[in-house]
Amino acid sequence: MKLRELEEKDVDRMLSWMHSKESKEIFAKDFNRYTREDVTKFAKSKNTDENVNYACVNDDDEYLGTVSLKNIDYENSNAEYAISFMKEAQGTGAALFATFEILEKAFNELKLNKVYLDVLKTNKRAIAFYKKVGFIQEGEFRNHFKKNDKFIDLLWFSMLQEEFEENKVKVLKK
Ligand SMILES: CC(C)(COP(=O)(O)OP(=O)(O)OC[C@H]1O[C@@H](n2cnc3c(N)ncnc32)[C@H](O)[C@@H]1OP(=O)(O)O)[C@@H](O)C(=O)NCCC(=O)NCCS
Repeated sequence: MKLRELEEKDVDRMLSWMHSKESKEIFAKDFNRYTREDVTKFAKSKNTDENVNYACVNDDDEYLGTVSLKNIDYENSNAEYAISFMKEAQGTGAALFATFEILEKAFNELKLNKVYLDVLKTNKRAIAFYKKVGFIQEGEFRNHFKKNDKFIDLLWFSMLQEEFEENKVKVLKK
């Protein structure tokens, strides 16, 4: 398993996940709306100083999921983390591997102080995952999204650089 930049050959597997029934329930954004053209443009876009996206791939170089650092803010030393793995890759340890790889980049290569994320309160699996990784909940935006005519709270989590090494040791030794 490894992280590499997204490639055009990943688009079929990305689309199959984005257009699935499960994905429709999870995200605030409706990924079903994204076309092949949109996803191809995203996969072909190059990483920049402010935004990096990586594909996590298996030993056959097949796409499993995407992990990103967005809105990298060097002045305030923080970045937003995002992750999405295909159903078939969930529960395999791949998301954990990809998360610690990108946090390594954030804290040890870019020397950022803080990595944060937001998640719908209804996304119980992702919340359990973030807590397992060691992210700390720091806030809640009440009724922030409307999905299927229901308002949903948005939770905010973060990890500080000083917490990273300890979390890594704790989680990866299990
Ligand atoms: C979020 C995501 C990256 C986590 O990766 P994963 O491989 O599924 O995570 P893991 O299996 O390692 O961990 C999930 C944990 O949630 C638990 N879990 C699963 N379903 C759950 C539920 N309904 N309620 C509570 N906990 C749940 C699992 O038991 C596991 O905990 P454990 O390892 O202590 O047993 C992945 O599920 C994913 O990409 N989901 C779809 C996209 C998404 O939700 N992205 C986040 C948007 S903010």
